[in-house]
Amino acid sequence: MIDEQDNVYIFNHPMIQHKISLLRDKNTNSKSFRELVEEVSMLMAYEVTKDFPLTEIEIETPIAKTKTKVLTDKKVTLVPILRAGLGMVEGMLKIIPTARVGHIGLYRDHDTKQPVEYYCKLPANADESEVIVLDPMLATGGSGSAAIQFIKDRGVKNIKWVCIIASVEGVERIHKDHPDVPIFCAAVDQDLNENAYIVPGLGDAGDRIFGTK
Ligand code: PRP
Ligand code: URA
Repeated sequence: MIDEQDNVYIFNHPMIQHKISLLRDKNTNSKSFRELVEEVSMLMAYEVTKDFPLTEIEIETPIAKTKTKVLTDKKVTLVPILRAGLGMVEGMLKIIPTARVGHIGLYRDHDTKQPVEYYCKLPANADESEVIVLDPMLATGGSGSAAIQFIKDRGVKNIKWVCIIASVEGVERIHKDHPDVPIFCAAVDQDLNENAYIVPGLGDAGDRIFGTK
């Protein structure tokens, strides 16, 4: 239920595709939109964590001793890009409850379309952690590329990018600037409009999550 091509993983599971259609619908209200972003993020977390290592331990069931597998102690840090990425955190934490959460504040200047950084706080020793960057939208890829660079500048080597809708241009930009970073998304849309919004996309994710429009 996942297409993998050139380090891009596209979630074509029916439950995710159904929820993406609801997210795209302009008549979906802010409350439902927020809930859907959380649900889709939780479903995506299942696949994003599929390479997490396991360690064999011995336990006792009420019936017998047995060997069983648990997650190897591994540091994971979620880094939502403010604001819209915040909407993905709770869903991810439902599957990875021990993850730490850092934040990067970036907004895309409306005129230049270039990312402007206003905040960055990562956990101590983030460089020892796998970092999962969260942002529902990958449009020109400018914000994503800059965010990944900030994280790399702090010594992090193991980074995954998780978004809900990506554009072809955004995917190409991340591949060009950060070929080591796998992209997980639920859809790749073909176009950007004159305002660098994804077409058909779902509109302004931050505004729809927080009801600011
Ligand atoms: C949106 C989105 C990404 C960025 C994508 O954020 O959440 O961060 O734009 O565009 P890009 O790929 O062309 O850089 P926005 O700047 O609207 O801020 P917000 O999250 O505060 O709404
Ligand atoms: N940011 C959004 O929220 N949506 C887009 O389509 C592009 C950038």
